[in-house]
Amino acid sequence: MYRLVCIECGKEHNEDKYTCECGGLLEVRFEDVEIDFELDGKNLSVWKYRCLLPVKIDPVTLKEGGTPLYRCNNISKDVELYVKHEGLNPSGSFKDRGMTVGVTKALELGKRAVACASTGNTSASMAMYSAKAKLKAYVLLPAGKVALGKVAQALMHGAKVIAIKGNFDRALELVREVCDKMGFYLLNSVNPFRLEGQKTIAFEIVDEIGVPDYVILPVGNAGNISAVWKGFKELKRFGLIDELPKMVGVQAEGANPIYRAFLGRKDRIEPVKNPETIATAIRIGNPVNARKALRAIYESKGLVVQVSDDEILESQRVLARDEGIGVEPASASSLAGFKRLVDDGVIDRGDVVVCVATGNLLKDPETVLKVCGKPVEVSADFNEILKVL
Ligand code: F0G
Repeated sequence: MYRLVCIECGKEHNEDKYTCECGGLLEVRFEDVEIDFELDGKNLSVWKYRCLLPVKIDPVTLKEGGTPLYRCNNISKDVELYVKHEGLNPSGSFKDRGMTVGVTKALELGKRAVACASTGNTSASMAMYSAKAKLKAYVLLPAGKVALGKVAQALMHGAKVIAIKGNFDRALELVREVCDKMGFYLLNSVNPFRLEGQKTIAFEIVDEIGVPDYVILPVGNAGNISAVWKGFKELKRFGLIDELPKMVGVQAEGANPIYRAFLGRKDRIEPVKNPETIATAIRIGNPVNARKALRAIYESKGLVVQVSDDEILESQRVLARDEGIGVEPASASSLAGFKRLVDDGVIDRGDVVVCVATGNLLKDPETVLKVCGKPVEVSADFNEILKVL
C-alpha cells in the first residue's frame, strides 16, 4: 500500500498529479508493506524490490539496474572507496531506473504520450522506454548544449526532439506547460514515480556491501540524491538496516544553487541565472527537487561541495586510467567531490564511501576529444608506426 502525498502540507493526491496546489513536491509513501526480498547480494535489479515500487501492472523493462559496484583500490587504499557504475544501465545512465517505473506508470494511467525537458540522459532513457511501451515521446533540449551521444539516442529511439534557444531551466518550464495543455505525461524528476525507481540505487548498495558511511552523487535537478536518500530511509523504516549514510551532493562551480543554499544553511535555493559547466548533464540553475535534496542533505548530516571543471575532467581521467571506469564529465564530479573531502579531512581512513557514477563515457565523445586530443595519424607502414610508439 502506498499514498501520494505533498511533502509540504501533507495533502494526499491522485496519481496523475506532479505537484500540490500549495506548490509542494509530491512523494510516494509506503505503508504496511510485506517485504519479500532478501538483502543477500544476489540477482540485483530494479524489479527485485518490486514490493517497494508503486506500480500495479507488469513493468516496461529493459533489464535495468544490477550495475557493478567496483572497489577502487588504485585510487584509494586507506578509504574503502567504491564506484557504482550506473553508466552500465541499458541507455547508459541511472535514468533507466526511474524510466522503467515512470513509463510503466504512464501506461497504467492510460497516457498516449510522454514528454520531458533534458540535459540529455533523461531524453535518451525516455525515448528507449517509450519505444518499448509504444508511447509517443516528446523531448525539449537546450540547443547546442547536449552531448552528442544523448541526442543520437533520443533521435534513434524515435522521440520527437525539439531544441530550444534557451537553457534547461527554460526547457523544463516550457515542457510543463506543454504537458498541461496537451495531456502528455511528464517524465522529468518532478514526477514522483520516477524517483521511486531511482531509490533502488540505495537498495543495491546495501544489498552488496551494507550501509556505507558516505554516498556521493552529482547534483543537477536534484532528484537522484533525494531518491537515493529515500531508499535508505525506507530500508531503515522497514527494519532492514539500523544505520543511515551521510549524503554528499556535488555541484559544478558554475551551476551551484544547492551548494550556495547549503553554505547559508537555507532550505530554499536562489536560482543561478546562467549556469555554465563542461558537465552539461548538471548545467542547471533552478533545480526542481531542491527542497527534497536539501532535506536529504540536512537529515543525513551530509554536505554539499562544489568542484571546478578542471577537477571534474581530472577525475574523469583518473577513473578511466586508474580503474578502467569510463564515465561522462558530470558523473566524474562525484569522485572530484570525494577528493575534496579527503583533502579537507572530512572523509578519513577506514571510511566506507560509495561514489555514484551516473552516466557512461560514450555519452559525450566530443569532450573526450577536446581533452585527450585525436589519435596520431601515420601512413600504413611498419617503420612509421615504430617512430610513434
Ligand atoms: N549525472 C548525470 C549523468 C545526469 O544526466 C544528471 C541529470 C545528473 C547526474 C544529475 O541528477 O538531476 O537527479 O540531480 N540529468 C538530467 C537529464 C537533468 O535531463 O538528463 P539529478
